Amino acid sequence: MRILVVGGTGTIGAAVVQALTGSDTEVISVSRSSEPAVDITDTTSISAMYEAVGTVDAIVSTTGAAPFVATSEATPEQFAAGFADKLGGQINLTLLGLPHLRDGGSITLITGILAQHPVKNSVIAGTVNGGIEAFAVSAATDLPRGIRINVVSPNVIEEALPSYGSAFPGFHPVPAAQAAQAFVRSVHGVETGQVFRVWR
Ligand SMILES: NC(=O)c1ccc[n+]([C@@H]2O[C@H](COP(=O)([O-])OP(=O)(O)OC[C@H]3O[C@@H](n4cnc5c(N)ncnc54)[C@H](OP(=O)(O)O)[C@@H]3O)[C@@H](O)[C@H]2O)c1
Repeated sequence: MRILVVGGTGTIGAAVVQALTGSDTEVISVSRSSEPAVDITDTTSISAMYEAVGTVDAIVSTTGAAPFVATSEATPEQFAAGFADKLGGQINLTLLGLPHLRDGGSITLITGILAQHPVKNSVIAGTVNGGIEAFAVSAATDLPRGIRINVVSPNVIEEALPSYGSAFPGFHPVPAAQAAQAFVRSVHGVETGQVFRVWR
């Protein structure tokens, strides 16, 4: 089995790569600094990466950014940046990845708890996460060749607490390894159109 992990060097991505790696599984981790490289905000870059990687059984995304800003201060440009990166980037990974996926393959995208439970200044991140979840639920109804699509929505990650912890007061962090198991469930399971919430 060949599995592509986009963002596989990140806090969550590294745990996902570790969880998916097995004796009968080749995991290909790509990001802006890999070879081949990919920038999910650039469709030419996404297409070139897929051409270089070839056919895979699963596409996994553990990347995507959105600006943090209060609603009253948010600009159309900041919303557009969030749409182009985490939302549009993952949609384009899906659309451009379909010809490179084997029959019965899977796509797993990432969102986060902010779609349902906002924190201060998370209006763009929450909006983007909601869009990704709606995209996956809709796309699951008509993807061809038995291809499945799911989303993993983690709570704040334990390993990220030094960076983000103060922004999530009272949230119960989950270890990256626990979030990674939801990706394993999506890739190796049979479900489609699901949002796997890794919250506790
Ligand atoms: N950390 C948390 O607590 C948490 C909780 C819930 C949801 N999430 C979501 O999970 C995702 C990953 O979070 P993380 O904390 O693991 O991030 P991270 O540690 O910053 O890692 C991001 C990964 O994505 C790659 N990357 C960044 N921009 C890219 C681009 N434009 N194109 C391709 N690859 C790119 C990075 O590598 P390069 O720099 O080499 O490109 C890296 O591999 C994000 O969407 C985040 O919102 C995070």
